[in-house]
Amino acid sequence: MTGNTPAFDSASFDSAILRETLGCFPTGVVVAATRGDNNAPVGLTINSFTSVSLDPPLILWSIALSAPSLSAFREHPAFTINILSKEQQSLCMQFAKPSDNKFKGVDWRPGYQEAPIISDALAVLQCKTYRRYEGGDHEIFVGEVIKMDFTDKKPLVFHRGQFVELADEKI
Ligand SMILES: Cc1cc2nc3c(=O)[nH]c(=O)nc-3n(C[C@H](O)[C@H](O)[C@H](O)COP(=O)(O)O)c2cc1C
Repeated sequence: MTGNTPAFDSASFDSAILRETLGCFPTGVVVAATRGDNNAPVGLTINSFTSVSLDPPLILWSIALSAPSLSAFREHPAFTINILSKEQQSLCMQFAKPSDNKFKGVDWRPGYQEAPIISDALAVLQCKTYRRYEGGDHEIFVGEVIKMDFTDKKPLVFHRGQFVELADEKI
């Protein structure tokens, strides 16, 4: 960075181009899940998940301040990170739109602090909420990993606004 970087100007800033630019970075796809009112399971599709620290074991993800499910994640002390397999594209879409019963037809079981574990996920991290940070129009959740499991299923991958398959060949 040079000292000449202009100050952020929201009037001329193009958030559509920012979205497209960020979309060039391929990610996995995750359902973050917790418990809400009356202990109901709550979850949403995210791709903002990433690893943070090995000691202590920390991960993070972010949620839009406008997301109806935010209050459940703020209030419950734990959540799960369910990393989706390439067979779980329809589940991904089911959790990517607002609904009172996103878990309808979904096979799941309670994990740490009753946070939902989605069956057949590629991998699951069971987390205690460690810190929450303000992040512009999102809130950043840092989780301490309490328990984890993984399989050798193939991941669901999101790149430039669509789902793609990971090539098996090493380069
Ligand atoms: C591939 C993909 C990735 C997404 N990543 C995020 C994310 O990281 N954070 C977020 O708040 N919403 C993300 N969303 C949008 C939410 O899934 C969507 O807004 C959902 O309706 C939120 O759940 P809620 O309405 O029950 O709160 C993503 C959607 C898709 C399809």
